[in-house]
Amino acid sequence: MNEEDVVSNKVDFTGVQWKSVEWTNLCLLYLRAHESRTPSPILGDHVAAQDIDRIEYDFERMHRVLHPDINQFMVALRSAQFDAWVGQYLDRHPEATVLHLGCGLHSRALRMARPGGAWFDVDLPNVIALRRELHSESPSYRMIGSSVTDPRWIDELPTGGPVLIVAEGLLMYLTPREVAELLHRVLDRYDSGELIADLLSPWGPRMSRVFTRGLIKWGTRDGGEITRWEPRLTAVDSSPIMAGFQRIPLPRQRLLYRAQHALPALRNYDRIYRYTF
Ligand SMILES: C[S@@+](CC[C@H](N)C(=O)[O-])C[C@H]1O[C@@H](n2cnc3c(N)ncnc32)[C@H](O)[C@@H]1O
Repeated sequence: MNEEDVVSNKVDFTGVQWKSVEWTNLCLLYLRAHESRTPSPILGDHVAAQDIDRIEYDFERMHRVLHPDINQFMVALRSAQFDAWVGQYLDRHPEATVLHLGCGLHSRALRMARPGGAWFDVDLPNVIALRRELHSESPSYRMIGSSVTDPRWIDELPTGGPVLIVAEGLLMYLTPREVAELLHRVLDRYDSGELIADLLSPWGPRMSRVFTRGLIKWGTRDGGEITRWEPRLTAVDSSPIMAGFQRIPLPRQRLLYRAQHALPALRNYDRIYRYTF
């Protein structure tokens, strides 16, 4: 997109309420855009940067509270590991249906969808409404505004073939029962596939009871519950989101992440897991 397109495609997000779910998504988008502008980015999400250039919002105020110079790497490391595993799966199964659950304003579909496959971005209705201001659907790309816990959205999906279920920053907001039911419903519909999801440690819900009114509902020590709840899934890989800290191009930030990575409680607070069926 050139500069003229950016100007003519402006979207007004000034109505987004501070600290709402939509605002959280705007923060994540902003951090990914910021990271794409570092000299040697880890994620390099240039679509996020184009989106931010189009959005009218008080980003100066957001910048002051987010501390992007440090926090951009948390977001970039997590998304880059997701992208790596998503890319590996789609290299093997370009025709797969991708279910990107709790997609927020993430640009993954625009960067990674393969010709011949079908991609569904799913999030709560208000978030999808915002997303629709930025991007359009196509025959192979759809957005669904629904809670993933509502069984009806699944009826809109094709059946059979391979499926890739991607859940970045989502499953911790669901109860164990909701996670189990979601997995049963999706797996019932497909022949094979993978689930890639990050899960918080048991500290997540404990701290959330104190700091965020219990928004985080589920934490796990090792992701083993997933295979107990849905035995068709087999765990194949897992990695702390900070595992790639050596790739951080700025020395002070790299040192900070190295220190966090050295402490097991911090290193394992948010881990990405990969399951196959
Ligand atoms: C931390 S954000 C992550 C967004 C996106 N995956 C990213 O990495 O930028 C969590 C997302 O999960 C979504 N979410 C939370 N509960 C949900 C539910 N029950 N159904 C669908 N989406 C949900 C929120 O609306 C939000 O967009």
